[in-house]
Amino acid sequence: MTSFPFDGIALGCDYNPEQWPRSVWPEDIALMQEAGVGFVTLGVFSWALLEPEPGRFDFGWFDEILGLLHEGGIAVDMATATAAPPPWLTAAHPEMLTVDEFGHTLWPGSRQSWCPSSPVFREHALRLVAEMARRYGEHPAVRLWHVSNELGCHNGRCWCDVSAAAFRAWLADRYGDVEKLNDTWGTAFWSQHYASFDEVLPPRITPAVPNPTHQLDFARFCSDELLDYHRAERDVLRDICPSVPVTTNFIISSHQSEQDYFSWAPDMDVIAQDHYLDHRLPHVHAEQAFTDDLTRGVAGGAPWLLMESATSAVNWQPVNIAKRPGELLLDSLRHVARGADAVAFFQWRASRAGGEKFHSALVPHAGRDSMKFREVVELGAALTAIGEVAGSHVVADVALLWDWNAWWACDLGSHPSAEVRYVDAVHRWHKAVTDAGATADVVSPSADLSGYKVVVVPTLYLVDDTLAPALAEVVARGGHVLVTYFSGIVDTCDHIRLGGYPGAFRELLGVRSEEFAPLAPGATVTLDDGGTADLWTELLTTAGAEVVASYTDGPLPGTPAVTRNGTAWYIATRLDEAATAALAERVLDEAGVTRTGSDGVEVVRRGKYVFVLNRSSTEAVVPVTGTELISGTAVAGSVSVAAGCAAVIRAAVIQEGT
Ligand code: GLA
Repeated sequence: MTSFPFDGIALGCDYNPEQWPRSVWPEDIALMQEAGVGFVTLGVFSWALLEPEPGRFDFGWFDEILGLLHEGGIAVDMATATAAPPPWLTAAHPEMLTVDEFGHTLWPGSRQSWCPSSPVFREHALRLVAEMARRYGEHPAVRLWHVSNELGCHNGRCWCDVSAAAFRAWLADRYGDVEKLNDTWGTAFWSQHYASFDEVLPPRITPAVPNPTHQLDFARFCSDELLDYHRAERDVLRDICPSVPVTTNFIISSHQSEQDYFSWAPDMDVIAQDHYLDHRLPHVHAEQAFTDDLTRGVAGGAPWLLMESATSAVNWQPVNIAKRPGELLLDSLRHVARGADAVAFFQWRASRAGGEKFHSALVPHAGRDSMKFREVVELGAALTAIGEVAGSHVVADVALLWDWNAWWACDLGSHPSAEVRYVDAVHRWHKAVTDAGATADVVSPSADLSGYKVVVVPTLYLVDDTLAPALAEVVARGGHVLVTYFSGIVDTCDHIRLGGYPGAFRELLGVRSEEFAPLAPGATVTLDDGGTADLWTELLTTAGAEVVASYTDGPLPGTPAVTRNGTAWYIATRLDEAATAALAERVLDEAGVTRTGSDGVEVVRRGKYVFVLNRSSTEAVVPVTGTELISGTAVAGSVSVAAGCAAVIRAAVIQEGT
């Protein structure tokens, strides 16, 4: 990865000037300067206006706005403008449209109307990319290239005939021999044996349960296919203007699982991520903290760029919750605390027309004279004040393992319980660790685990053969490993690991389970330590481990629910939130992890900088000595942070408990 493209902790936003008359542009620049906007993302959805007819380009208006931005001292993250093809292209080539698993075409009239495998789309898109690169690659305002936009948003998976042919080529490349595919997919089951790759289709809607490895490989193919598309645009940009770094904005979120971003990361010059609070979830800010920690994991610990977020409500949830006063600053600083070196938003000015006209922006419909714009100005000043934080690294004692392949496989159908959802399990344990006052890096199972005191492995259904030995090393050096139910069950082909559950981890955990006994929705069981649990039980016996808690009722009274084999813990059920929290605290304490903060008060360290984010309704007091950067005041011994407020302290000394 190259150095970060923007200065300090930059404030940025998507800027769509084509939605406004030219007379508005000078005011835009002036207001951006007032707010301290350091960069804008330009051109994301501009294709139809930049290339109004095939091969005829109109860059005049774009030159003009780019010039105004540059004169105004605002840097540009230049989109390649290929996210939404113009109507002339989809009209001429309907074969480039995406098709769903039922065979329905998804028609133009929205955005991202293109199949990731379409050669005709790629040809036209790369021609535009080359034009953009030649015209703007040397422009002094352009600091970063932004390939397409949120690759995979709306068109991450396509089941059309073009995709089918590309899938077959991907399989032939992966397996070489169709008999290898037959073994891996277990096609002896239900007469699914293939005589040739030519017989394979994408997993379209079937009368009964589809082959799970077929589904898993299709998920892998779709991720690879879009990465290949990214590389094609990136290569054009690098050929023409090698000095400008290239990225694309990832969508690492709890409702989007179609890209394996660990495999994408090495192709990015800087990791960029979009994040919107999801008010459909029970713990909205915990999900933000989780996603930020995962983004940092994808970035290998390096600072990353928050490319999009919302100043207030979005427009795409059933009820779009507005941020209350103060929340914009607090939520933005949460991203920075967890590794972001820039905070950007969709979008500069709230649209008058179109499908996103009720989405919040930096300049709302009410205009400059609004609470929102004043808060944006306040945020810009705060980010400027903490600029020296840029480049520092988050300090974490805990690793929590995350894997997209495991997500795809875990959530397939025909499993013991459809109630077991990978993301739920991961969120629950990440929240417990965070609320207990620790910071977790969310990392790939193949990450280096040597620096962590605790490694949490929530419901990691699919694992390769290297993970159990890596976890055994953590335990051997005195680290703690905590594994939860439905982990280590299958190999990377989604084949069961035989001999008893939890297959890959039996020896590490010193347990063996013969049968799963999931609980009906709403049913709970009681444990002999007073806790309760739901969702999952299993017929577990110990083989070296010590029993920490057993069931007193439910289908398996007297059976172990929580065990430990030295410092290797197994949680064979879904503990209630209080019991999860208590166990997390116990393990962190035994492992010697320093805990600061609590549910509602996040304390996160980036190098010598201590972030205190107080979401609670009472004042928080945190021990630290140094300088609070937003206010510029000295802090001696401890900092008091009012409810709903935040502080960023350059610590003179890192004290015990900080
Ligand atoms: C995504 C897109 C943006 C915009 C926002 C709205 O992040 O990249 O163009 O549609 O969603 O939340």
